[in-house]
Order: sequence, then C-alpha cells, then structure tokens
Amino acid sequence: MKKLKILVKYLHFILSAKTKHAVHSPFIYNFLQKVVFSKTNSTDLNEIKLLRKKLLNDNREILIKDFGAGSHVNPSKKRIIKDIAKNSSKTEKYGKILYNIMKYYKPKKALELGTSLGISTCYIAKGYDKAEVISLEGCPNTIKIAKNNLGKLNIQNTKLVEGNFNNTLNHTLKEMKSINFIFIDGNHQKQATINYYEECLKYAENNTFFIFDDIYWSSGMEKAWEHIKKHNKTRVSIDLFFIGIIFIKKELSNEHFKIRF
Ligand SMILES: C[S@@+](CC[C@H](N)C(=O)[O-])C[C@H]1O[C@@H](n2cnc3c(N)ncnc32)[C@H](O)[C@@H]1O
Repeated sequence: MKKLKILVKYLHFILSAKTKHAVHSPFIYNFLQKVVFSKTNSTDLNEIKLLRKKLLNDNREILIKDFGAGSHVNPSKKRIIKDIAKNSSKTEKYGKILYNIMKYYKPKKALELGTSLGISTCYIAKGYDKAEVISLEGCPNTIKIAKNNLGKLNIQNTKLVEGNFNNTLNHTLKEMKSINFIFIDGNHQKQATINYYEECLKYAENNTFFIFDDIYWSSGMEKAWEHIKKHNKTRVSIDLFFIGIIFIKKELSNEHFKIRF
C-alpha cells in the first residue's frame, strides 16, 4: 500500500517536473550538468558497486536497534543484511550524485546522518579523499558492518560515530566547527528533519550543500521538505523526488526546481 502511494506520487512528480533546460541560473545548470546528469565512471564507483553486490548476497541476520521512523518494508528487529542493502541503502543512481558533489566541489567537511551499512558513506568518502567525513549511526550491529565495509574499500578519511542523533549531532557539529556538505538520511520524521536542518545551518557556510533523502517518504517528510524550502536561509531547492538538494548561497535568487531525472 505504502509502495503504491509512493508510485502515485512519483507519477504526479514526473508530470510536473521539468528538464534541466528549464534552469536559467548558470550555477544551478552547471551543478545539474556536473553532478546530476554526469555519466561519471571510475574505479571508485566500480568498487562500491562490487561491495553492494556482496551485501545483496549476504544472508547473515542481525539484531537492529532503530531510533528513527523505521522501515516501511520490514520493521522487525531482526533483519537480514541483504534486505538492509536492498531497502535502506541509496541506489547507485543517487550514490553517484553524492560522489559527484564531493568530486567536483571538494567540500572539506562532510557530515552524514544515517550510515546504515556504509554504502552512501563510501560514495561521499571516495568522492573526495581529502575531505573530513563523519557519519552518525545509532544501531551498534549495523555500524560494525559499516566499519568493516569502509575498511574493505580502504577508506581512511571517515569517522563513524555511534549513538542516537539526539546525543551525537550537536557534539559532532561542535567538533567539526563548520560543514560544507550534509546528507540527512535517518529518522524520517517531520520535526526531527526540520530540527536537523536548523541545527546544521548554525555550522553551515555559504557554499554548503544539504541533501535530504526520501522527501516523499511520508506526509510528514513532504511537510518537512516544504518547510525547509520556505526557510529564510534557503535560496534554491532541487527536487529529484527520491532526494532533495538545498543551496543557501546568498548570491542565488530564490528558486525551486523539480527536475526529471
Ligand atoms: C536509510 S538508513 C541510511 C542508509 C545509508 N545512508 C545508505 O544510503 O547507505 C537510516 C539509518 O539511520 C539510522 N537512524 C535512524 N534514526 C536514527 C537516530 N535518531 N539516531 C541514530 N541513528 C538513526 C538507522 O539505524 C538506519 O541505519
């Protein structure tokens, strides 16, 4: 039922979304060309693809502790790794967007909320290996697997922090002092998502990229996305349906795009 609702929303999105040619801002057009529609291929991406393939065949069962809104697909406490890889990890199409932002814009400090098995973390960390990357995750058994996965890909620029975002986010932001890239992919609830935006804005710079996952996941998430778009610090939003990207660059004029991708 949930999947059907999302499909209907997606069809509605497709009908109202525009192509990249509807964008007149040179900065945003360039972003779409370099990041969203780029046909990047690299050894890094192939390594992550291989890691994903292995996880999709991993039949080990783990006990999970979910602090967030949980999974629509399998909310039970025991989950099989291959199911987590299939249902919770960002697909390659969207992983490449994270990778390309890191590769082309080279944000020095990147923060992720929701490591899970570490697949999206790999895209972020591999995109720019000189960046300082921190990823937060609440589930102890999941984070163990993520650590192992980062090790397999020889990722050395990333620190994983275990604990509820309520306890780890503030402390991590203080430690980082500033952030240039943030991927919010955990605890998909309206107020929590808005609070994460507000909290991170305090440490953001003019060039900081905000990426929100699953902006149509629930009516709460849709409301959070609408709120974030209207926030007085938000300049431009790009809605790609499965993710939303926010720019706070002061020199950009206020615009909101839905891009078919
Ligand atoms: C959708 S998954 C992340 C997927 C990952 N970013 C990827 O694409 O590979 C969300 C993760 O956030 C974690 N999470 C949700 N709410 C949390 C909270 N309040 N504190 C800490 N972790 C949380 C869950 O345990 C889960 O592993």
